[in-house]
Amino acid sequence: MPRATTVHVCSACGAEAPRWLGQCPGCGEWNTLVEEQRAAPAAKANGRGGPGAPVTRAAAAKPVPLSQVQAVRHVRHTTGIKELDRVLGGGLVPGSLVLIGGSPGIGKSTLTSMALGNLQGAGKRTLYVSGEESAAQIRLRAERLPGAALEVPTLAETDLDTVLATLDAERPEVCVIDSVQTLHAADLTGAAGSVGQVREVADRITRLAKARDIAVLLVGHVTKEGALAGPRVLEHLVDCVLQFEGERERTYRTLRALKNRFGSTNDVGVFEMRQGGLVEVEDASARFVGEATRAPGSAVLAAMEGSRPLLVEVQALVSPSELVPPRRVCNGIDRNRLALVLAVLGRHAGVSVGSADVFVNVAGGVRVDEPGADLAVALAVASAARGLPLGGDSPKPVACFGEVGLTGELRSVGHPDRRLAEARKFGLGPVIAPAGSEGGATEVPTLRAALRAALPQQPRARAA
Ligand code: TYD
Ligand code: MG
Repeated sequence: MPRATTVHVCSACGAEAPRWLGQCPGCGEWNTLVEEQRAAPAAKANGRGGPGAPVTRAAAAKPVPLSQVQAVRHVRHTTGIKELDRVLGGGLVPGSLVLIGGSPGIGKSTLTSMALGNLQGAGKRTLYVSGEESAAQIRLRAERLPGAALEVPTLAETDLDTVLATLDAERPEVCVIDSVQTLHAADLTGAAGSVGQVREVADRITRLAKARDIAVLLVGHVTKEGALAGPRVLEHLVDCVLQFEGERERTYRTLRALKNRFGSTNDVGVFEMRQGGLVEVEDASARFVGEATRAPGSAVLAAMEGSRPLLVEVQALVSPSELVPPRRVCNGIDRNRLALVLAVLGRHAGVSVGSADVFVNVAGGVRVDEPGADLAVALAVASAARGLPLGGDSPKPVACFGEVGLTGELRSVGHPDRRLAEARKFGLGPVIAPAGSEGGATEVPTLRAALRAALPQQPRARAA
């Protein structure tokens, strides 16, 4: 009779340890190991070694060349939310599992409710399972949403077996589980949301979804660092991982695919949270450029959000500081990138902000996580430090992109053509870019040259 064994699994990386340890041997995180019961493997066949000895009792299977495999072309379910469909690669594939992660209050429930409402309205069978809210709360949200959100069959339940039985009986085409952390498998120890539970819940839902061709949208929590909570294995298990980002207090949110078995991971959807739910922002560049000021400290960045060019405004404020060390505060860009840009500005471009507080913000709550944003950050900081607007008196706002290297050189980044075309489309110019960008850009080899091109007036040395 196989006995269950106890193993200790890291909730951050999924590594296993034979006993409880303070520090995970896999990822080095502290206090992440949790106890999990595991059924012991069946007794091994009496494996006397030697050539010719049987290695297993299972019968061999026959591998088939791919050319002889029947490929079923699924018709995707379009959710009616264009930005979501685009990020998914053209809609939901039947039988696929999509994990949507995001911080609390970002709009995961709203987005999934809207998608189901649209699908229900288009005559598809849907089911919304919520372990987080009561049916009455879900109704209150649905009342604010467009489409047939109020017609979506809803189940407020946390017991995994009940959810699976309901899925099997109702056979929806698309189902939302909000969230994977709230479901509980009764035959497993551990609280809902623990590593073992999350893994079991996701695994059993996956098996049912594949067997019954149900497209499942799994909502997942994120840790305070922003990574998807629960074991990493969850990301391996599902077909698609979407990340819903933005700040709760800000209007704009972005949806991007971190993994997609049925499409590219290059597409990003931009949404705005309004009274009636999430609204797609199709022409985000127009929105952000329209809101851009031309004051000192403002630079327009021609960024790439996946395969899509996006113009965003980067703002900086440099003010004398009493603090040692002075403050470095940034929103929407990486702190380490800011430190690097400030160091290069001081060392190679003659803009020293050593004893000043520096604040950098990407307007609209957008996050730009690409090295191409460096030049915009540098120009915004230099413009703020010198109290001069970029472009001087030129009638058109300056746009820029490029990576800043440690020796003060400007390095090229991906898709210069698309960035330039986007800047042109919105009447920006000149576009300051690294050498080799072509297409009529103002090509500059170094950060110092970029400053000369963007801040034409003689700089007054007002840096702190
Ligand atoms: P929600 O989808 O519940 O977030 P999550 O499931 O990710 O935790 O919604 C989050 C916020 O969105 C909530 O604070 C209220 C706001 N909201 C609107 O502004 N307009 C709306 O139409 C809806 C439905 C929500
Ligand atoms: Mg929610």
